[in-house]
Amino acid sequence: MTRNSIQDIQAKRGNEKITCLTAYTAPIARLLDEHIDILLVGDSLGMVLYDYENTLPVTLDQMIEHTKAVMKSTSKSCIIMDLPFGTYEESKEIALSNALRSIKETNCSGIKLEGGTLVKETVKYITDRGVPVMGHIGLQPQSVILDGGYKIKGRDKFEWNKYIDDAVALENAGAFSIVLEGMAEPLAEEITNSINIPTIGIGASAKCDGQVLVTEDMLGLTNISPKFVKEYFNLRVPIEKAIKEYVSDVKSNKFPSSEHTYQMKPSIVKEKKQ
Ligand code: KIV
Repeated sequence: MTRNSIQDIQAKRGNEKITCLTAYTAPIARLLDEHIDILLVGDSLGMVLYDYENTLPVTLDQMIEHTKAVMKSTSKSCIIMDLPFGTYEESKEIALSNALRSIKETNCSGIKLEGGTLVKETVKYITDRGVPVMGHIGLQPQSVILDGGYKIKGRDKFEWNKYIDDAVALENAGAFSIVLEGMAEPLAEEITNSINIPTIGIGASAKCDGQVLVTEDMLGLTNISPKFVKEYFNLRVPIEKAIKEYVSDVKSNKFPSSEHTYQMKPSIVKEKKQ
């Protein structure tokens, strides 16, 4: 089975919707691989797996380790890894060095970084040197302190030009796709119609070329539930049921039963009897 390439992803634009979900660990990645076009090892893992307040403390080492696990347990999905906060802002040279390290150590298909016009030179520098880049504009979680929270963009038309310029700048810089996060539907539509690379929306309406969600959000495993999240299943309920049953079985000696218990080899039992 060959892995979806970034060209395969781009070819879907206008023909079929692109599916993307986050994956940070082998068991989840293994389940998603059959079904999902792009698996994003997002820096949202900081909040989802490590209970950080936001994504800012996530390190490149953490991202690389999780991406290695996702790569090892998949063979079909295109795997994209987030460059975390502080690994690409300082200079385009540092950004390239961190992007190259990410690819060399994980063998993933590309990296994602946040920002538009401000990072266009960095994106060009990285893509020109062989690393595919996915952009991320609109609500940028790594700008949460600067923005004073997670704020939806483009609800007033006067804001639109900035985001359209950001998208065009990323496309011109060589980005292969752009995540549009937390923005009003008409702006997402305008951006999608203004560029020739796929837009992947999260809280950015069905007008995008594809959709991404945090897997744990759509499975009911996180507490935060913004309007844009559809909880397809609440896994908390069956998990809690199983845990309660386990506790009750252990306390009442029902588990482990003989089915889950090792005995001596039959020959040794015989010998002992003689
Ligand atoms: O970190 C992440 O998971 C993301 C997606 C939600 C787009 O950037």
